[in-house]
Amino acid sequence: MHPKVNGEPTPADGCVSGDVGEPLTGNYFISTYPPFSTWTSEAVGAVSQMLHNPKAPSSTPLGLYVHIPFCVERCRYCYYLSHAGKSRRHMDEYVDALANELRLYRDTPALSNRNIRFVYFGGGTPSLLPSETLARLLERLQLIAPWTAAEEVCFECAPKTATTSKMKILRDNGVTRLSLGVQTFNDDVLRQNGRIHLAADVDRAYEAIRGAGFPVVNIDLIVGLVGETEASFMESVDHVIFMAPESVTIYQLEIPLNTPLCHALDTGSTDIALISWPQKRRRLGIAFTRLEEAGYTVRSAYSAVRDEKKHAFIYQDALYHGADLLGLGVASFSYLDGLHFQNVTSDKTYFEHVRCGELPIRRAYELDNEERLIREFILQLKLGHVDVDRLRNRFGVDPLGRFATPLEELRQNRWIQSDADGVTLSREGLLRVDRFLRLFYRSCHRNAKCS
Ligand SMILES: C[S@@+](CC[C@H](N)C(=O)[O-])C[C@H]1O[C@@H](n2cnc3c(N)ncnc32)[C@H](O)[C@@H]1O
Ligand code: SF4
Repeated sequence: MHPKVNGEPTPADGCVSGDVGEPLTGNYFISTYPPFSTWTSEAVGAVSQMLHNPKAPSSTPLGLYVHIPFCVERCRYCYYLSHAGKSRRHMDEYVDALANELRLYRDTPALSNRNIRFVYFGGGTPSLLPSETLARLLERLQLIAPWTAAEEVCFECAPKTATTSKMKILRDNGVTRLSLGVQTFNDDVLRQNGRIHLAADVDRAYEAIRGAGFPVVNIDLIVGLVGETEASFMESVDHVIFMAPESVTIYQLEIPLNTPLCHALDTGSTDIALISWPQKRRRLGIAFTRLEEAGYTVRSAYSAVRDEKKHAFIYQDALYHGADLLGLGVASFSYLDGLHFQNVTSDKTYFEHVRCGELPIRRAYELDNEERLIREFILQLKLGHVDVDRLRNRFGVDPLGRFATPLEELRQNRWIQSDADGVTLSREGLLRVDRFLRLFYRSCHRNAKCS
């Protein structure tokens, strides 16, 4: 059974070989390379080898990602690993496990002395942690790995749980970038997508956030939510512009296979109004233009900022340029010294591993030089520009030669232009970037599942 689709593809929307038919369901967003499904349990042994026998002191920037897998309720479209209805005791136990996991890494030769340059608390809904639990988490982690010298500390919030007291705790503990998940300002669309807040809750949360004085506030919207109309989406964009956050992020709705929304579509619900991918791109394109007219600068396929110099998103920029990342918590993934690895996904197994003093890793992948080049090239495409010289110097390979075939395909579609200092995406290219990144993959990875 097909869901109701408002808006058919426009003639301008061609397909490339990495872009078969654009089904409404399935993954769209690409967060790394090679795909997670190629990571294996056999490669996990390489992680402790790397941690205990580092090749050389590393000058690569190191970031910390902390996953908080709790939400008040699950939204219909969401695929992040998170659970609703966990007790306070469970959250406290989880916080202890996070600190103990960090300690395990800090005790290794590879990570004992490295400074933390950026931090990201993501979820789930990190702001759901009760105030005392939140304060304890921040304090315990910093006792093990202080982030006083970090350039950026990000924290994700949802409107109902962003209270004045929690915002103060965050600011007092060095959080510099607060991200608020709004998605839309239309109450009816919020309800249809299983969000627990209403537009009025956003105003309350925003006051608390502004009162705490974070240098950067980001607001997340989604384009293409169930029940969205062009008018409701544009009103949301205008409302955000009126609020004037330093950063605005707009994701195109994806409906991964394991989400409640996908199950509803599979079981034949016919009253689910969704728009097609070309429509999402068209609306996002209009939103970017409106943001630009309001003084914002588009700085990636998903975001615009008020001041490019002051409001950089260091976590994203650093990761996309090859920084190391240590991920803590269930399902978190890390990238250290060219090794990808991901944690177990069940809380119970996670607790057991950490309690026994074992790293809670379930799968890993060791990238060779060419895979690292592909990874950085495609991630930087998501920022709209690839500095080719920098990659050439880093990897000793000319990216323009290595990727000549896919680049020519994109050029013919007018999705890129090559300029003196690299490869720059056109706006049309930027709006569909995750759709064509597979063209740059090694052929053995092109058909691999995302997760
Ligand atoms: C972990 S959530 C942010 C914090 C909080 N849990 C919330 O939802 O307000 C990260 C962001 O991912 C985006 N997101 C989640 N599921 C998505 C989907 N299926 N398609 C597109 N964006 C999605 C939303 O914009 C959301 O704000
Ligand atoms: S979108 Fe946010 S609040 Fe909703 S289920 Fe996902 S992580 Fe939780």
